[in-house]
Amino acid sequence: MNSFRQPPCECSPLFLLPFSLKTLRVAQDRDSENSILRLVIFGKPGAGKGTLTSRLVKKYDIVSLSTGDLLRQHIADRTQVGLEAEEIVAQGNLLPDELMLKIVASKLDALRTKNWVLDGFPRTVGQGELLDAHLKKQGTPLSLVVNLNVPDSVILNRISDRFVHLPSGRVYNASFNPPQVAGFDDETGEPLTKRPDDNPEIFARRLKQFYASTAPLIEYYASQAQKPTRIPVPAQRVQHPHQLAFPRRHALQLETVSGTTSDEIWPKLDALVRNTYPKLKERTETIRRHSLSDAVISQERHGCGGGMQQSRGR
Ligand code: AP5
Ligand code: MG
Repeated sequence: MNSFRQPPCECSPLFLLPFSLKTLRVAQDRDSENSILRLVIFGKPGAGKGTLTSRLVKKYDIVSLSTGDLLRQHIADRTQVGLEAEEIVAQGNLLPDELMLKIVASKLDALRTKNWVLDGFPRTVGQGELLDAHLKKQGTPLSLVVNLNVPDSVILNRISDRFVHLPSGRVYNASFNPPQVAGFDDETGEPLTKRPDDNPEIFARRLKQFYASTAPLIEYYASQAQKPTRIPVPAQRVQHPHQLAFPRRHALQLETVSGTTSDEIWPKLDALVRNTYPKLKERTETIRRHSLSDAVISQERHGCGGGMQQSRGR
């Protein structure tokens, strides 16, 4: 009998090899899935979310998405979303959950294999549930939530000194982090502006809104962190009809980082990210445009459609 026609015996290395290769491949896929950073940076208005996100993106191969920056650009560009958002943002209130998910979801879908950080989303338990359901469907669950714990008294003093570069979301502070030339962005030389929601009355409303709607998210994530879930392999990743696709075990990590200044907080956040995601690559060049929000808006402005590019003008 022709031995090549026979299936290999179970004790033969020929029998074992394809299986072990497949197992190795699955193990590698799982390993690389688990080494992707999908981070929500969470904190009160003025806690330093934008400042710390910028530092992460500047140092590591991470893309950021700030819903506040996105909305401000929509408002500046007079888009449909911008027209709807203008009054709500100016008053320090929140936009509807479904609208926010729509704005964020399409951007995240293009980032399946990337490390990313979300600043300003989710902001309600409803948004947290919508985001979880969406990411689970894609097989790309959140990996880390960082809660920035900064006292209210510290925050209130910062806001009056804040100036922003609208197109990039870069944040300056007259005393803590002043621009090289007063009133102008370090990277582009373009003028800085004051946010219309950065006055004491509106800021107090944003803080109240935070305690009422956003703070309960921490309880939500704390309960998620305690019960690891199984993430099904999305249909598009199953390459063969007979391929067995076992759900992956996943546990969210929730960490609180406390401090009164971002300089105190940054080394803690940096160490947390570096130790938890040792494979995260550091950037070798300085980038100017560093947020996904500015890249997305810049594309929409130039009519490039739904795609995106990262770090234009490196
Ligand atoms: P958004 O832009 O996200 O505002 P926010 O959450 O209120 O947070 P901020 O951007 O004010 O603060 P931050 O934590 O980024 O702090 P920063 O780094 O700038 O949202 C704006 C609006 O959009 C919302 O009010 C809402 O209407 C709408 N919106 C957005 N997302 C939404 C959503 N998901 N659902 C519904 N509506 C949504 O730092 C603050 C200041 O402190 C700066 O001046 C900074 O330089 C300074 N600073 C930072 N570190 C230090 C330090 N170590 N020492 C001194 N000063 C420091
Ligand atoms: Mg911000």
